[in-house]
Amino acid sequence: MTTIIRGGTIVNADRAFRGDVLCFGDKIVAVGEQLDAPANATVIDAGGQYVMPGGIDTHTHMQLPFMGTVTADDFFTGTAAGLAGGTTTIMDFVIPDPKQSLLEAYRTWRGWARKSAGDYTFHVAVTWWDESVHADMGTLVREHGVNSFKHFMAYKNAIMADDETLVKSFRRALELGAIPTVHAENGELVYQLQQELLQKGITGARAHPLSRPPEVEAEAANRAIAIAKVLGTPVYIVHVSCAESLEAITRARAKGQRVYGEALAGHLVIDDSVYASEDEDFARGHVMSPPFRGKHHQAALWQGLRGGNLHTTATDHCTFCAEQKAAGADNFTRIPNGCGGVEERMAIVWDAGVNSGTLTPSEFVRVTSTNAAQIFNMYPRKGVIEVGADADLVVWDPNGTRTISAKTQFAKGGFNVFEGRTVRGIPTHTIAAGKLVFERGDLRAEEGAGRHIDRPAFTTTQA
Ligand code: URP
Ligand code: ZN
Ligand code: ZN
Ligand code: ZN
Repeated sequence: MTTIIRGGTIVNADRAFRGDVLCFGDKIVAVGEQLDAPANATVIDAGGQYVMPGGIDTHTHMQLPFMGTVTADDFFTGTAAGLAGGTTTIMDFVIPDPKQSLLEAYRTWRGWARKSAGDYTFHVAVTWWDESVHADMGTLVREHGVNSFKHFMAYKNAIMADDETLVKSFRRALELGAIPTVHAENGELVYQLQQELLQKGITGARAHPLSRPPEVEAEAANRAIAIAKVLGTPVYIVHVSCAESLEAITRARAKGQRVYGEALAGHLVIDDSVYASEDEDFARGHVMSPPFRGKHHQAALWQGLRGGNLHTTATDHCTFCAEQKAAGADNFTRIPNGCGGVEERMAIVWDAGVNSGTLTPSEFVRVTSTNAAQIFNMYPRKGVIEVGADADLVVWDPNGTRTISAKTQFAKGGFNVFEGRTVRGIPTHTIAAGKLVFERGDLRAEEGAGRHIDRPAFTTTQA
């Protein structure tokens, strides 16, 4: 299986140059000008287009059992939607119930993920603590290619990690050469604010952001950063949504701390006016945590991405249909939290980031794949176009346009937070593991073609 992509502008995080990319099997085997290709090679003409590493979405939840239901997209439909948008690798989450064995949960999620059409890898959540968790973290790192652990500082009475769990798990991650990550929101504060709102009779979706103001996020971000500093571990903060959290990251980094931040496509372009809608289905469709914020937060997030204090872009793809969201019709705390985006992230970040002049094409590649690959130890297999890397590529037409709609999306759930937005800059071809899986609207995703990507531990002083 040989494919040659001819005459595009190849964009890596460090430079952009004209050339061809030759893929054989699942690897890139040559990059250069006017390459020779066998007569039977599939030829893709990339003239006038960019050729970039396939996107890595660092944060998705396919087939997640959450808040009494299961997300609308499973690992096949969710990864297929990603391929249609130029994303070839997702990083999903194994989320054990409190007291459930991490290894057992890990095996369950690996089973669910077998139907993936694109490559996948897992962060494993630490939702409780005892000696078995300590041991399982070691097994996951040494034997199963896991090198990142997730901590939910929110979702009290469910999956929230208390401070004891955070400290012990961060310490264990450091010892193993793995990176701790956090969903930064003070779960106790959220819970108390939710109860107060309900008592006042404020029960609709508009109460959701009122129960999770920026300070709730910033407190947790500061706490996670402080714990990481004391223990001497790096830390990665998922879905940074507000200026206050970004300030915490920026401050820590200025003092030499290794803190990484992730921005979601949704948080970059959608503001909190969505919760004021009279249409409750619409407002509930936007309920995710942290919530969408006021416009000045969006400007801050873009500054963070450009300035290097935010590193990755993701989606937190976690789709629920209107009927599922309606479980919280009388009580906003029961609305399943989550929104989609795996299909749109690349185009949203390009349109709002590159077309506006905020990001260069190389910076776009940095925040859509390269940094993710480096932070989570998949580089240079992923995140770069060079000989020996996986043949995961997106051919990008900077002049192509598309109007996003739930009516035409591949993802399930029947709702799209980017509904009606016209983006300029779209994928024309996606190549995953050397196969042409998307061509100008024609999605050829194959169930089970995706592979689990092992991520070795970072080198430590431990043997
Ligand atoms: O609202 C969200 N983000 N749902 C998914 C779980 C999480 O917090 O990431
Ligand atoms: Zn294994
Ligand atoms: Zn989260
Ligand atoms: Zn999430």
